[in-house]
Amino acid sequence: MKLLTIAIDGPAASGKGTLAKKLAHHFGYAYVDTGAMYRALTLQAIRTNTDMHDEDALVALLQTMKLEPTVSGGIRINGIDVSNEIRTPEVNEYVSTLISIYPKVRESMVALQQQLGDRGGIIMDGRDIGSVVLPNADVKIFLIADVEARAKRRFKEYQQRGIDDSYESVLEVLKERDYADMNREADPLRQTADAIALDSTNLSIDEMFEAAIKIIDAKQKETY
Ligand code: CDP
Ligand code: CDP
Repeated sequence: MKLLTIAIDGPAASGKGTLAKKLAHHFGYAYVDTGAMYRALTLQAIRTNTDMHDEDALVALLQTMKLEPTVSGGIRINGIDVSNEIRTPEVNEYVSTLISIYPKVRESMVALQQQLGDRGGIIMDGRDIGSVVLPNADVKIFLIADVEARAKRRFKEYQQRGIDDSYESVLEVLKERDYADMNREADPLRQTADAIALDSTNLSIDEMFEAAIKIIDAKQKETY
């Protein structure tokens, strides 16, 4: 059977990573989390006190970084795994409203992502995968969920990880990030005409996975 390229886009905490990992395990495919790449640059900018309003300084910083997204959804900067460090409220605050808005930053990220996606048997998630990074993907899923459901999920995740943040603040930041991701000029979050929407608001993780499998099966039947 042909090895597929699967693109999953959608807003923050809609379940993209969870779904992508389950699908990758099911099909034996690689998984690339492109959000982790924007998060890694944000983390490095915080650590090096780089001015996050200065696009050229960010591009220069990116050039000093050997950014290695692992095929299991993690990420290394210059050989060091930062998969946990990138998922903090501080990184969340800057990643969507500053770091990912810059066209030159995006250009470098997209080039790297296209190299990784230049083969079948891959699942990539983000905001612009179906629209910009892998426009020829075999299957495009646009995963959505109500913002309150997403905030509850992220809040629960923070509680489990011992991160001190209130539900109200998580909800507020998610709304800000949704706005930034949908309204930036460069490669905004949008559903392409050939993407299939999947609403995970009232779906358990297993139900979401089953729904995605049905979408992929239907798409394969349509193609062959
Ligand atoms: O995990 P969560 O959904 O909260 O976010 P993420 O997927 O890790 O992405 C973090 C941020 O990076 C997003 O809010 C976007 O601003 C940016 N991003 C992007 O611009 N393009 C992508 N392909 C992936 C992420
Ligand atoms: O990658 P993205 O930010 O879109 O979302 P995620 O990190 O995969 O999921 C955010 C949280 O929602 C995780 O804690 C998942 O376990 C949870 N989740 C859920 O409870 N039910 C779903 N149907 C999907 C995700």
